[in-house]
Amino acid sequence: MLPAFRVPKIILDTDPGGDDIFALFWLQSLVKQRFAELIAVTTVGGNVSTEKTFSSASRILSLGGLPDVEVGRGVAIAQSPDDASHIHGSDGMGNLSSQLPDPIHNYETARFSDDILIDRLNAIPGEITVIAIAPLTNLAAAEKKHPGILRKAKEIIIMGGALNCPGNITPHAEFNLWFDPEAAEIVLNSRCDLVMTSLDITRQLIFTREMAQSIAQTNPQSKLAQFLIKLCEFMISTALTYRETDGASGFLVHDAATLGYLFYPETILWKRAKVQIETRGEWTRGQTLIDDRNLAKQPANAWIATQVDATRFFTNFIEDLKILNKGSEKI
Ligand code: RIB
Ligand code: CA
Repeated sequence: MLPAFRVPKIILDTDPGGDDIFALFWLQSLVKQRFAELIAVTTVGGNVSTEKTFSSASRILSLGGLPDVEVGRGVAIAQSPDDASHIHGSDGMGNLSSQLPDPIHNYETARFSDDILIDRLNAIPGEITVIAIAPLTNLAAAEKKHPGILRKAKEIIIMGGALNCPGNITPHAEFNLWFDPEAAEIVLNSRCDLVMTSLDITRQLIFTREMAQSIAQTNPQSKLAQFLIKLCEFMISTALTYRETDGASGFLVHDAATLGYLFYPETILWKRAKVQIETRGEWTRGQTLIDDRNLAKQPANAWIATQVDATRFFTNFIEDLKILNKGSEKI
């Protein structure tokens, strides 16, 4: 067990999403192993609507055994780009929501996600790690409402961007930052030590049905195992349809890369760079651009992931999910 001062306090900002769900399962395992403390889950629109991402987060917290964690409702976004339901299902969870109990959190009475971020970061400045695996709408709203609030986070870890590789939602842009590039620009300008795991490395993180089956083996009759196998099959089907994995039989667990950095940092290599985002380009809106010349007049604002040891990453990921499943409730 880690000493209390070493256990990261985390707010997860998320838009479930199949890969968000796997990341949230991983985080719940780490909480149960006392390697992490989950302060709140702030949801946002992106993969699917704010109502659906809220409901999914509530259901997954119940399924993973952390039903008491606060869930925030997403801040409304000005424009409404296309969602990613074609990848994640109309409910954002592989169209499996009807097979799970109803959410126990109430969307209508929940606090807004930006207010939770402001409240929590002000309460214990410098102590909370914000993991943002979704469009940055909530973080930007918090910064606009309370300028400087994002610097009160101990660290901000982002899944987003396509730096030296093609995009996924357009040839040039990655979905999270493309969905709300004005919000991303606010966050990119908020501090100089952002941590960014972009498509450059997450495209190597292919989760397979064999991995799902090995996790399920620790408790085959659990609700979690049954759900995890079905969600994996759904995500593999859409990944193949939309060529997310170039034909490999699996799906990309983009969002889990943020946890790989935080809990298994030896699995990823980094460099400093100035990251900027295009907000006006007709064809390039949402494109992320890097300047790694380290010029004084263009000071770096981020650590960007350059390589990942996918084998070691998945060894840790799968072992932690086995632990979560082993202790989870049977059907
Ligand atoms: O581009 C990958 C990101 O977009 C991930 O966060 C995934 O959940 C989707 O929202
Ligand atoms: Ca996501």
